[in-house]
Amino acid sequence: MRIGLLTGGGDAPGLNAVIRAAVLSANYRGWEVMGIRHGFVGLLGECDVAPLTRGSVSGIAHLGGTILRTTNRGNPLCFPVRNEDGSYSEKDCSDELIENARERGIDALIAIGGDGTLRIALELVRRGMKIVGVPKTIDNDVSCTITTFGFDTAVNTAIEALDKLHTTAESHDRVIVMEVMGRDAGFIALHAGVAATADVILIPELPYDIEKVCEKIMARDRLGQNFSIVVAAEGAYPKAEGAPDPAHPHSRRAIRAGSVAERLVGEVHDRTGKECRSLVLGHLQRGGMPTGYDRLLATRFGSAAVRAIEEEAWGYMVALQSPHLVNVPIAEVLREEKRVDLAHDVVQAARWTGISLGD
Ligand code: F6P
Repeated sequence: MRIGLLTGGGDAPGLNAVIRAAVLSANYRGWEVMGIRHGFVGLLGECDVAPLTRGSVSGIAHLGGTILRTTNRGNPLCFPVRNEDGSYSEKDCSDELIENARERGIDALIAIGGDGTLRIALELVRRGMKIVGVPKTIDNDVSCTITTFGFDTAVNTAIEALDKLHTTAESHDRVIVMEVMGRDAGFIALHAGVAATADVILIPELPYDIEKVCEKIMARDRLGQNFSIVVAAEGAYPKAEGAPDPAHPHSRRAIRAGSVAERLVGEVHDRTGKECRSLVLGHLQRGGMPTGYDRLLATRFGSAAVRAIEEEAWGYMVALQSPHLVNVPIAEVLREEKRVDLAHDVVQAARWTGISLGD
């Protein structure tokens, strides 16, 4: 058995631990592994594929990023090709990809990625490829798994930043707005905000009312707490504007990183007169060493993916359904988008400890 291994979509701390565990587990079973660089794109054209050995994955479990590189562009099912007149059109390159994998003796693939990568994997399974998936996202928005590696690291990065912002906000009697990742799901904002005792948390699942946000800030002022910390997911939006239309160019998909923080700072200052500052945490959340939790989960996922190949679980994804890892059909994973459940106890904990959710 020769397994091809690839990482697709945005990177997440823990990817290297998955790669290491998959290679060592495959070797344990007597199988070899080929690393495919830059996601599925590495199986197109000249291909970018090289053997992954015990040596090449040694000492990488604690490193952020992915030694295989990744991309969140270049879907092989609608791959951008340049026409003679300089314009671009999209082409289904799946036949080429399948043929390239076959020529390189790749019998099965492990695709590590989020919804986008899993969707491509499922389509390729339908076209005859043998693929198992490993969920990856710092946003924690993949269904059927309690969590994904990278999320805990991102939350801890956000908590560390919020702790630092707290002290300076208090010294200067300021409102500081910190924007975190999460276009569609507010898990990072919610978990980091609750753990770091923010005053306001704004998430895409619960459109906010700016008047409520300012009411909370002014109520704190009346209690002599003259500073406030606001954590906003990049996809948070005001209730008054209604849910963004996904087809509209200014939809959440097209959201510009930093625009939520910038907007909130202006609106809060105009309404409260308070001095406001903002921080866009951005890609710091995607970088650096995975936490111990993420390293362990990533190692479990990488090893379980090889066992899923042994079980010939084509079209399945390994998932954490505590306390066990299970295989779930990718089709089921993609059926529903995972979002913050507003009835969840973390949301209740936020409300009951006095955090405003802007509603
Ligand atoms: O999907 C993960 C994510 O971190 C989102 O929260 C964020 O909007 C996006 O990636 C940013 O991706 P990039 O800047 O790499 O295009």
